[in-house]
Amino acid sequence: MLREGLFVVIATCVALAAARTPPQSENIEELLKNVDARYSDNVFEDASLDVPELIRKYRYPVEIHEVTTEDGYILQMHRIPYGRDNHNVPGVRKPVVFLMHGLLSSSADLVIMGPGSGLAYILAEEGFDVWMGNARGNYYSRRHVRLNPDAILSTAFWRFSWDEIGNIDLPTMIDYALEKSGQERLHYVGHSQGTTSFFVMGSMRPEYNAKIISMHALAPVAYMANNRSLLLRILASYSNDIESIASLIGFGEFMPNSVVFTWAGQALCRDEVVFQPICSNIMFLIGGWNEDQHNTTMMPAIFGHTPAGASVRQFAHYGQGINDRGFRRYDQGSRISNYRTYGSFRPPSYDLKKVTAPVFLHYSDNDPLAHVNDVDRLFRELGRPIGKFRVPLATFTHLDFIYAIDARALIYNRVINLIKAMDVNGLEGIAAVEGIEAMEVLEDNV
Ligand SMILES: *[C@@H]1O[C@H](CO)[C@@H](O)[C@H](O)[C@H]1NC(C)=O
Ligand SMILES: *[C@@H]1O[C@H](CO)[C@@H](O)[C@H](O)[C@H]1NC(C)=O
Repeated sequence: MLREGLFVVIATCVALAAARTPPQSENIEELLKNVDARYSDNVFEDASLDVPELIRKYRYPVEIHEVTTEDGYILQMHRIPYGRDNHNVPGVRKPVVFLMHGLLSSSADLVIMGPGSGLAYILAEEGFDVWMGNARGNYYSRRHVRLNPDAILSTAFWRFSWDEIGNIDLPTMIDYALEKSGQERLHYVGHSQGTTSFFVMGSMRPEYNAKIISMHALAPVAYMANNRSLLLRILASYSNDIESIASLIGFGEFMPNSVVFTWAGQALCRDEVVFQPICSNIMFLIGGWNEDQHNTTMMPAIFGHTPAGASVRQFAHYGQGINDRGFRRYDQGSRISNYRTYGSFRPPSYDLKKVTAPVFLHYSDNDPLAHVNDVDRLFRELGRPIGKFRVPLATFTHLDFIYAIDARALIYNRVINLIKAMDVNGLEGIAAVEGIEAMEVLEDNV
């Protein structure tokens, strides 16, 4: 029934998309009017601009950087090197904060809600040099020196999960950001898959822990043994077959970002349209529902940028973790291929003890993808867990870490205080952070 429902929604989207004409966005200069607003001044315009255009529209400095990984993926990073209203002198060396998006998302997550609530803007105003990564396969990193993501008969481009994102993409992007900014270490903030891939990096490439001053995991996902979202439970039940079926039909990409989603988002999700609840429900199926923190007016802008593309294998890998209740490398599908790849019949577990970067976990009670029990287990098993912070709002859910109306007050301000404290005084600085009484810092670790 769920799949039929989704099918109806998508079919309606396609029909409506065909009936609409795209907005004009060719002339970016025209858009560079005096936009100082805290919120989006035009959600349809924001849906049609890409991330660098969007940042320029709100009069922030932006740089586009590209790196090629050792296995040939060309990744695009976006940088906001300084602020617009504060800390806005170019050329001053600043501490680097590296931001990493979640599954099916992109760097757009960090700016889409506008200068008042987008984490990247807020950090730039607070005096940080902000770098945003894009994982292989998403809209900005859908290129390879040799492989074609759109090849009809080969899914070679798409043969990766978040194992490769953590093992290869993150180290490559972090090294590049450090070199360009002339720094030796940085702060890392990840959301959802942006935390999973960090834990992969910390355990598989432990030398990178030394490059991290502090790591902030928003809605941390490593173990998925407890209650799941409806959509992921369905995916998990097919995780053994999902990739083989997909590759049989020559399909390695999961839900490519296409104009269909953009126009469907605009047609169906705008205010006053009867379909708006459906838009909210798609979000709900994926990441949980929180009516109070959900700015439905922003739906068209969000759907202009999300989903931004991912491989089928990224979902299959999460599905394996849900079924197996562990945090392991990708199961190649047979004992023989596992043996060939890993030297063991079962894929090895990621060794979380090797993640020795100082980690702060920010989680919530109502998150279907990062259950409280799973977060507790992760915290216990990490090599150097420092603090665990529950969002003080019971209804707060997975996507709220990015899209919530009050994300800044509920989470970002605390993350920024922690980053500043770590930057100046390391772990000694933490105890002095305002609002300490609301924190669940483990005494032993401070
Ligand atoms: C929701 O978004 C719109 C458009 O960006 C903005 O005008 C409005 O103030 C936002 N509402 C809240 C409660 O933040
Ligand atoms: C899982 O969800 C069901 C309902 O969907 C609920 O009754 C149960 O208490 C939940 N279990 C946990 C461990 O949260």
